Amino acid sequence: MDQMPVQPACAIDRIQSDTDIWLEKELNMSKTRKAAIIGIGHVGAHVASALATQGFVDDILLLDQDEDKVISEVQDLNDAMLWMPHTVRIHGGDFEDLKDVDVIINCVGNISTLQVKNDRTLELRFNLEAVDSYASQIVQSGFDGVIINISNPCDVITRHLAMKTGLPKGRVFGTGTGLDSSRLISAISKKTGLNLKSIDACMMGEHGNLQFAPASVFSFRGAPLESVVPDLELDWKQLEKEAIDGGWVTFSRKHCTEYGIAATAARMTQAVLEDEQIVLPASAPLEGEYGVRGLFAGVPCVIGANGAEQVIELPLTEDELDRMQMCCTGIAKNIEKAAEIEAGLA
Ligand SMILES: NC(=O)c1ccc[n+]([C@@H]2O[C@H](COP(=O)([O-])OP(=O)(O)OC[C@H]3O[C@@H](n4cnc5c(N)ncnc54)[C@H](O)[C@@H]3O)[C@@H](O)[C@H]2O)c1
Repeated sequence: MDQMPVQPACAIDRIQSDTDIWLEKELNMSKTRKAAIIGIGHVGAHVASALATQGFVDDILLLDQDEDKVISEVQDLNDAMLWMPHTVRIHGGDFEDLKDVDVIINCVGNISTLQVKNDRTLELRFNLEAVDSYASQIVQSGFDGVIINISNPCDVITRHLAMKTGLPKGRVFGTGTGLDSSRLISAISKKTGLNLKSIDACMMGEHGNLQFAPASVFSFRGAPLESVVPDLELDWKQLEKEAIDGGWVTFSRKHCTEYGIAATAARMTQAVLEDEQIVLPASAPLEGEYGVRGLFAGVPCVIGANGAEQVIELPLTEDELDRMQMCCTGIAKNIEKAAEIEAGLA
């Protein structure tokens, strides 16, 4: 016998029925938010922990050439889950599982190459070859999301990943000077006593020793920093140096950096998953902005569902533009070195 459609008997029932329909729609629409991390070393493991704790991801896939490490990290992170504020599925898998992942965070590396010198380019060969070993597997999986690259030298490896995966412009971007900006803002905060979150400042250019602080555009919510703390002479050269050297302060003593970069990458992942359209410093493709073309460099850009969606051009002084050019010349030299490595000439 055919079922009669159930009619709400009164207004309350009608409201209930409307709510159910709305809820059902919402549930159908709210898809599982998936992230994958490639390279579960110091950085990758901390990114996984930051994502799991913050609750904007439902599923985290861990990939590493060292399968034992993946088993250990999956176990350890799952051991923490009961005490975490959200329930997240954390598991190992294979590159083919990247098909329906929204964001990949690329964290491969070999930081043992950095032990003697503060020079991120020492990882160039290793990380180029690492990316070459799995980029085609990312493509073959059918992955159609956003890749955030951390691996160093960040600007060059980000470009390499973008070229190897062929994803649309902006869908591959790097953390770039994001972490360095955090170091700069922290130095300004310590000097001025102002809260970190009220300081509009960033580092730009190379995620490396050439990066610079474009102090002419910095403010305390629109007011020049000097006008908010008038008795304080800010030594921008010193603050810039603290931002550049911060990574080495951490690395030279504990032989890795992990919390700062994990928090940076987690924030960027959230900006993509929630289509935040927020301006953050990141390594983005330049096509004429700041007079530069054909490479990735650290610039403020709009981050949303499609990655680094727009590069913001700050009104830099001539000196600052020169510093930007110097950074890009340095990045271009490393791109040339990368091409020689790829061609077997270096
Ligand atoms: N951009 C930044 O601001 C920033 C900050 C910190 C670290 N880093 C960089 O992040 C990277 C990772 O740092 P770390 O401290 O975690 O290094 P690590 O040496 O502790 O870990 C690297 C991991 O990558 C894995 N790996 C290497 N080659 C692989 C491959 N082909 N396929 C899959 N997995 C592979 C290794 O097994 C290891 O687990 C390095 O390049 C480091 O310089 C960047």
